Amino acid sequence: MPIKKMWGGRFEKGASELVDEFGASISFDQEMAKEDIMGSLAHVKMLKATKILPAADADQIIKGLEELAAELADHGLHFTVANEDIHMNIEALLTEKIGPVAGKLHTGRSRNDQVATDFHLYIKERLPKVVAAIKKLQQALVQLASENVETIMPGYTHMQHAQPISYGHYLMAYFQMFQRDVERFQFNQQHTDLSPLGAAALAGTTFPIDRQMTADLLGFKAPYANSLDAVSDRDFALEFLSNASILMVHLSRLCEEIIYWCSYEFGYIELADAYSTGSSIMPQKKNPDMAELIRGKSGRVFASLMGLLTTMKGLPLAYNKDMQEDKEGVFDTVKTILPSLTVMTGMIKTLKVNKAKMAQATHHDFSNATELADYLATKGIPFRRAHEIVGELVLKGLKTGQDLADIPLAEFKKIDPRVEDDVYEVLKPTVAVQRRNSAGGTGFAQVREQIKAAQQLLAKDNLQ
Ligand code: ARG
Repeated sequence: MPIKKMWGGRFEKGASELVDEFGASISFDQEMAKEDIMGSLAHVKMLKATKILPAADADQIIKGLEELAAELADHGLHFTVANEDIHMNIEALLTEKIGPVAGKLHTGRSRNDQVATDFHLYIKERLPKVVAAIKKLQQALVQLASENVETIMPGYTHMQHAQPISYGHYLMAYFQMFQRDVERFQFNQQHTDLSPLGAAALAGTTFPIDRQMTADLLGFKAPYANSLDAVSDRDFALEFLSNASILMVHLSRLCEEIIYWCSYEFGYIELADAYSTGSSIMPQKKNPDMAELIRGKSGRVFASLMGLLTTMKGLPLAYNKDMQEDKEGVFDTVKTILPSLTVMTGMIKTLKVNKAKMAQATHHDFSNATELADYLATKGIPFRRAHEIVGELVLKGLKTGQDLADIPLAEFKKIDPRVEDDVYEVLKPTVAVQRRNSAGGTGFAQVREQIKAAQQLLAKDNLQ
């Protein structure tokens, strides 16, 4: 016999077990049990203050909810599919505890504003944790950058050696990306820090509720201005998933380079044993599994974003049961991005930089060709012509094995008599990097500036 539902008054027959299972969300929305109790506590305190409920009834409900909160924190609560979702499960447990007076809790409220409130509280509490985890990673990047301002490596475009750069500069590029992630998640909070409570089912309520009071009690900046919007808005979750997706793009790009760079062919870095794994068959292997896993996990985060976008697209106002599908992707994303950030931070903190290997890769690779073209241009040769001349020298060098720096001065003088001995200085990779001193460039002075600004930014947060 199916159990009589809390909303079962207008139904003659119970739903089948399969339908009960299918419609239930308790298997996942129990993740918001704490938030649900908090929301109910704020609601009943408001019902008491506005005298919508007699104080004695409200006090019983408050006491019951507080006990449930304590039990939840202590050993967890027992939920059932029969009670469908977290909201009705909590109410059922409250009823078991204090009797039918529990039924007064739902006065002037609907599960529609209740679920939206829980979900806002859930994301609101996690956003600062995400931001803090990104900042820890930024801190690790800045530290490694500060140790590698003068570490020279090839800079790539099209995965081809382009111009030599500072490894510190490279790391600071990721710092900047993660800074934008921080800002996006912080902005996300503006749209999360709003209280839907009191919107009721969709249209507000005839009870003289105080929405400002519940918003204040729950620590929300303000109540939603429009009740229809309050119950049907999931932008805050979409923003979260979108921000998380961009974050995962950044992490995944960094992972990709880590994976390449610790390969035999590159050998630029070595991951700590703690962040590597071996092979069950090949004894020599040291695999960058953690980087691969973070790169791989980007897929599920993007999937959650696509899932919710698709769920929300075309939904008429206000609440539709489709929206029950909003939670799992968000929960999973929280559980994906936080450890991904922590693992990445550990990986960055413990990796070993093979400075010699990096520097070596900038020799005999013609990545100083731009230096020579720029040098000739400063002597008065139009840059287009200088580019052509150097292109021909590179072509010749590739055939003969002669580096640009190995070309005798007499040969250079044949190109242009204004070429002097100082050309050899300019052709050194370190000098090439050092001289790229335009604002935001890879010149050492510029990289130091970036690092200083980043350290000042992070110092404001007082991270340990
Ligand atoms: N479990 C539901 C959800 O997650 C709660 C809201 C249900 N509201 C309704 N009118 N059926 O969306």
